[in-house]
Amino acid sequence: MCGIVGIAGTRDVAPIILEALRRLEYRGYDSAGIATLEHGEIARRRSPGKLNMLAAVLHDRPLHGHTGIGHTRWATHGAPTEANAHPHATAKVAIVHNGIIENFRELRAELTAKGHQFQSETDSETAAHLVTDLMAQGLAPDEAAKQAVARLTGAYSIAMIFKDHEGLLVGARRGAPLAVGYADDEAFIGSDAFALAPFTNRVSYLEEGDVVVIRGAQVSIFDAQGRPANREVKITSASAALVDKAGHSHFMAKEIHEQPEVVGHTLAHYLDPAGPVVRHLGVGLREALVAASRITISACGTAYYAGMVGKYWFEKLARIAVETDVASELRYRNPVYPDTGVALFVSQSGETADTLAALRDAKAKGQTTIAVVNVAESSIAREADIVLPTYAGPEIGVASTKAFTCQLAALASFAIAAGVARGNLSTEDEKKLCASLLETPRHIAEFLKQEAKLKTLGEEIAKARDVLYMGRGASYPLALEGALKLKEISYIHAEGYAAGEMKHGPIALIDEAVPIIVIAPHDVHFEKTISNMQEVMARGGKVLLISDAAGIAKAGKVWASIEVPTTNAFITPILYAIPVQLLAYYAAIAKGTDVDQPRNLAKSVTVE
Ligand code: G6P
Repeated sequence: MCGIVGIAGTRDVAPIILEALRRLEYRGYDSAGIATLEHGEIARRRSPGKLNMLAAVLHDRPLHGHTGIGHTRWATHGAPTEANAHPHATAKVAIVHNGIIENFRELRAELTAKGHQFQSETDSETAAHLVTDLMAQGLAPDEAAKQAVARLTGAYSIAMIFKDHEGLLVGARRGAPLAVGYADDEAFIGSDAFALAPFTNRVSYLEEGDVVVIRGAQVSIFDAQGRPANREVKITSASAALVDKAGHSHFMAKEIHEQPEVVGHTLAHYLDPAGPVVRHLGVGLREALVAASRITISACGTAYYAGMVGKYWFEKLARIAVETDVASELRYRNPVYPDTGVALFVSQSGETADTLAALRDAKAKGQTTIAVVNVAESSIAREADIVLPTYAGPEIGVASTKAFTCQLAALASFAIAAGVARGNLSTEDEKKLCASLLETPRHIAEFLKQEAKLKTLGEEIAKARDVLYMGRGASYPLALEGALKLKEISYIHAEGYAAGEMKHGPIALIDEAVPIIVIAPHDVHFEKTISNMQEVMARGGKVLLISDAAGIAKAGKVWASIEVPTTNAFITPILYAIPVQLLAYYAAIAKGTDVDQPRNLAKSVTVE
């Protein structure tokens, strides 16, 4: 998604805006630009492509000035060209914008009729002309900005600078996050605290509907009703060190390797190793679980697959009915919710537009809403009744890895808690499950030692045009996740299937050129999955089996196998995520793709 930076500074800001934009690269983008005030006039440089192209433009034609805004654009309205890149400007104002202005067509028609000439195909440019129009009617820039923002519908955040108004920066939050950074003689705006990390760790987050007016280092925030508002200044932990690759060639590799640690952190929050038992649930949560007649689980992408694994756990351990659906469907289905239902949403960023909308709908329909989120200050975290945090730390690689396993760790702990609360698990069961869960970080670390083998296999997979993944039970969502990971970063076509469904269609695709990755821990589903594997092999399929020692010994001869440590079947979804991540990673490396920022994808999807 787009990234925003704004600085009211005391030095030339273009180089430091560029540095801040680099820290927002992880969000995904396809063009970039910066505008500053040079002797009171708006000056800007923009470029399609990555930030080094903008840097080259700036090298040839440097930008001076102490007040400026910058942007990385992930195209929605109009191709990623220079003309569509932000900042958008008139002679009076320059703006950067993240999100969608839904009523831009009407506004554009209105402003065009008044003589405004548009230079781009974007919805964003409308905001620049609207502000200009209001200023032409005699309004001061900050007042014009406030009134313009009030006329824009949609979910977005925005930042602006104004001709002849040195040190003036206006920002607004309507559905997409915006942080304000404080320093002694400067002030900053950014899409998140990472962007601001090199400049300050004193940050406040705008609330829905807020407008911030910055004059030099003086920051004034106004709420949706235009009243002065105080937003708590927090000391953020998004320190510069956290966005370092720590010696790995990609953030994705670093994040895969962080999993023993961050899964451990997440488990530590939910489990007391002394028992081992689940820690005491908040009162409201326990009551909601006991009363719940159904849990509805929803999310997008990888987070949705974590939710699907959760379904298997909740049904088994807590004997509670579970429904799952992707958020983009659930939000528009007008679903029938039970009177005493719990609705659980899973999200790394906590900003995914569809997930947030589905949460709001569930809340409006009387569900107790629970969010499993990685970003504590996010919109989803703020709006849910109850938050179950994950402690993955900042995830920079677009393809989710450590956030997924941490989501699974939180969901597994919560499923045990639900089982206990509903009287479905004995103290002995609870102890056993918690003990297995607490072993997961160690098993992940153990498995990561096989990385060299995974590299070789990933290179083999990279030769394929199509790859199929299959699994049963909780390994079925993992098959979906494995296929998603591979297509996201290597661009190889891949599909995940419930193993039992193979013969109902996909088996027609099988030939010697199609690797089939079979995820089959030696659990209650093992025999059935192996039968499905045999059906595939009988048709020439090239099977890569992921299983434990007993499974591999029993399965007989296959093209290749990956041995995962033997554990309680309960935790296999967390553990088996690691080989599917590494296979995708090394297949992508072999293909030479942009692993951390795959084409067309965004880290935080704040549009629907
Ligand atoms: C994007 C990302 C995925 C992610 C999905 C949901 O598509 O590229 O990796 O799984 O959004 O994001 P969330 O932040 O809600 O987990």
